This record gives sequence, C-alpha cells and structure tokens, in this order.
Amino acid sequence: MRMNLSAELDRWLSPETRELLVRIGACATCLGYHAYLVGGPVRDLLLGRPSCDLDVVVEGDAPAVACAATTPDQSTPVVHSAFGTATIQMDVSRIDLATARAESYERPGALPTVYPGTIEQDLVRRDFTVNAMALTLDGRCRGELLDLHGGRSDLDHGFLRVLHESSFIDDATRILRGVRYEQRFGFVFEKRTLELLERDLRYMNCISADRVRHEFERTFEEEEPEQTLRRLDVLGVLGVIHPTLLFHSQKSWALASARRSARSPTELHNVYWCLLAWGVSADDVETLGERLNLARGAREALADSCELALLEARLDDPGLAPSEVFDLLHRRSHAALQAAELMFVRPTARGHISHFVRRLRHVRPSLTGKDLQALGVPEGPLMGRILSSLRSACLNGEVASREDEVALVRRLVNPVSWPLE
Ligand code: CTP
Repeated sequence: MRMNLSAELDRWLSPETRELLVRIGACATCLGYHAYLVGGPVRDLLLGRPSCDLDVVVEGDAPAVACAATTPDQSTPVVHSAFGTATIQMDVSRIDLATARAESYERPGALPTVYPGTIEQDLVRRDFTVNAMALTLDGRCRGELLDLHGGRSDLDHGFLRVLHESSFIDDATRILRGVRYEQRFGFVFEKRTLELLERDLRYMNCISADRVRHEFERTFEEEEPEQTLRRLDVLGVLGVIHPTLLFHSQKSWALASARRSARSPTELHNVYWCLLAWGVSADDVETLGERLNLARGAREALADSCELALLEARLDDPGLAPSEVFDLLHRRSHAALQAAELMFVRPTARGHISHFVRRLRHVRPSLTGKDLQALGVPEGPLMGRILSSLRSACLNGEVASREDEVALVRRLVNPVSWPLE
C-alpha cells in the first residue's frame, strides 16, 4: 500500500529545514535526478521522534544538488567530491547529501568498495529493514514512502531484521548498532537475525579498533548506555571484543549515577570507560586500550582506576590522616576517582575518596612559592618539600592561619635555631 508522509514531514521539520528540503527536491528534478530522505530520519519520522540530522540520497551528483539548493545567505555546503557527498550545516540541524551507491565487501570487516548506484541498491546495502526506507523529496510524489524490505511492518512490530544472511559478516559493527537500536526503541531482534548475530559474533574481531571504539562512543551518547552495555554482555559481544570485559548490575547503577554528576561529555566518557573496565587487571587494561585505540586521557584514567582498585583495602582504614589520603589519591585522574567512588564496596574507603574529591584536593596553603622565597627558601627541591609539608599541615589541621604557616616554614628551614627565637 502506498503511503505519503509529506504532512508529517512538514509538521515535524523547522520552516528553514523544510524550505531547504523542498529546494533540494526541486534542484534534483531540474538536474534530472531524484532525491530521497533515507535511513534514520525516515525511521524516526515514522516513530514520531524528531531528529535534527537528516540524510539525503541523490540518484545523481549529490554535491551539485547541494550547491544548487543553497542560497548565498545560507552556509555554503562542505563538499567531498571524491566521495560524492556534501554537508549543509544550519542553525540547529544538518543535512548530509550522498550520491546513491552500491557496495561490495572484499573481506569481512573491510570498508566496502562503493560505486554509484540506484536508490534500490543504496537501500539494499543497509543494516536493518527499519533503516532501509526512503522518502521521495522531488516532484509530485514528494513524501511518498519507498519501503522495499518491509521496514514499516518491522517498525510496527518492533523487529530488527537484517536484509541478508551475511550482513553481520560483511560488517560486524551492525551487531553493536543493532543492540543500540534494540535498547533505544525497546525493539527485539527477529528470530533469524538473532541466530545470525550469535553465529557471526566472531567477525567482531575483523573490525578495526577505531570502528569498534566509535560504536562504544555512540553507545555512550545514548540516554541510558547501561542498557545497551548490559545486553552486549548477555549476548557475549563484550567478551568477543575483549575477554576480560564484563558488565553487571552494579556497573549499570554506577553509570547512571556518574551521568548525574558529570562535568563534561569527555570526562563522562572516561568515567564510563573506567566503569566498563572496572575489575580488569593492569595488563589487560593495556591490551584493551590497544584493542580500542583509546585516546591518551582514557588510557590514563583506566590505568589509574586499576591502581585505585588495588588501593581499596588500604583506604579502608578509618585512622588514615587526611594528608595520607591526599598522598594516596592526588595524582589520580578525576574520572578514575569518580569510578572508584561508585565501585568501592568498603564504606570507609568510599568515604575517603568522597572526602578527597569534595574537600581535600582543593586545600592549599595560603603561602606560595614566592612567599617562601621572601622567607629565604631557595628555589629547588627544598622548596618543593616545604610546600608539601605545609599542605599536609593544612590538611591535618595543624596550622590555622598564615602566621602559623610562616612559623612552620621557619621551623622547617631552620629546625635548630627555631626554639631559640
Ligand atoms: N548504515 C548501515 N550500516 C552501517 C552504518 C550505517 O547500513 N554499519 C546505514 C543505515 O541505514 C543508517 C544510515 O546508514 O540508517 C546512517 O547511519 P547512522 O547515521 O550511523 O545511523 P542512524 O540510523 O542515523 O542512527 P542514529 O539514530 O543512531 O544516529
């Protein structure tokens, strides 16, 4: 049955985006091409979930359509002629235009070889039926749904279904994508697709580090990434990516808590990495960092969280002085500390971490290096030692004023003469 979604499209888009899509359709027609809205935005339109990033496929020269459709007062499209793509960035939304293509995979996990094709070829190369629908943008059929693989019916039933038997062999990142969709939309894998997923798990090993990491990063951007990670664990996907990776309910709770106190997206991602890898040994964390080609910040956070895990027993001592807590914790990354605070099971150790994060690490003596120089302390290792003793004294409440600090410095510089003063 034919279905036309132009009314939904118009209702859902901002006036600026709507106008641009109309011009894209018109310019495609003028140039003798056809243009379609494809993939995620069509799925999201049918689900009634607005999306700001739109993908358009042109049967013809996509960059030419992008350039013809934009007026001088709009941002100029960024064109990648070699790939036949162009991007138009607007205030709140973005349109990616690509030339319709067919593709073939030389070996499992390789990036596909692509060549210009029809919209039908472009749709049949996609991951799941729900992502393989298109909406006509040009001419009298504007808004007409092109659904060659039963995507709409699968969407109605909440099924994730691959388009052919070797879909996961060609590209095992689809396993990670599928689990993400499953959890985001509350869908289930259709029976045969689940069998193929389980059969083809090992092809995850053919996927490059950057591509696997990228899928994790996209998962971290989901509203509740813990759902996807838990499911990846249950399906055995995490174990194939790295045999030491585990995800359980305490980690789920910890991820949700970390999100509530996050200071920045990058830091939150690093906390997620630490939580995901919590319990993994230092050696294994290193191989995990390589398997995923993690950035330096994430690797450092992971190494710190391994060391913190080993310190839990030592930190479980209520008699530790604040300066001792400081010495154990002050070189650790914030992400690792946050992960430890969430994952420690011993309350005293957890309390020390909280106290350090919220108070101790902000404690500074009022005297600076310059003040010490004025008191006759030469620059060099001695100054470093005195500054650190001063900080310990502040942390332990042994000095309460600037005068106390000056007196302490004098005692430290000249321990013999001080009692005579
Ligand atoms: N796609 C695919 N196989 C992949 C990656 C992408 O078939 N390994 C196709 C899918 O049809 C997908 C489209 O390319 O809909 C665009 O990819 P992407 O932007 O990653 O997917 P979205 O569906 O837009 O997903 P999300 O909602 O998570 O952004």
